[in-house]
Amino acid sequence: MRRVVCPGSFDPVTNGHLDIVGRCARLYDEVVVAVLINVEKKSLFTVEERIDILQTVTKEYGNVRVEKFHGLLVDFCRQQGIPAIVKGIRVVSDFDYELQMAQLNYRMSGVETLFMPTNPEYSFLSSSRVKEIARYGGDVAGLVPDLVHQLLLERLHG
Ligand code: PNS
Repeated sequence: MRRVVCPGSFDPVTNGHLDIVGRCARLYDEVVVAVLINVEKKSLFTVEERIDILQTVTKEYGNVRVEKFHGLLVDFCRQQGIPAIVKGIRVVSDFDYELQMAQLNYRMSGVETLFMPTNPEYSFLSSSRVKEIARYGGDVAGLVPDLVHQLLLERLHG
């Protein structure tokens, strides 16, 4: 089975993330979306909430599994028998950062990293910007799935 992982914080998942996951779902037999458990970082949604949201919005693809992980991503890949990581690249500065991480991950484990250019429609998008816009009453419709839009309104202004 050809399997790949799309890792991230997904706090919350954006349409940019979904675009990458959906394109991976067409290329691979199974896509594992791996949510990082990071106790040091303050999050808006809990890991369990993020997993629920991701499961709902990826259900239509039919071959996406959502998991959580902590520690090193390559250890999670080893445990799950996943040979490759896919990372979306929005802008050149993403590549600078991701290249080093990819090389370290490969050196540690032999797990490959594949870079997928983000759809230009979403190249300016990040979870942090979405939260900031929503917090100050800006409109995030079209940037995140409808479910996330609703939950952001409830959580920040409910
Ligand atoms: O959505 P994010 O926060 O940009 O995702 C970053 C993530 C989760 C992909 C990255 O921080 C990660 O892989 N963290 C796990 C720890 C790890 O394996 N670090 C790499 C050391 S080279």
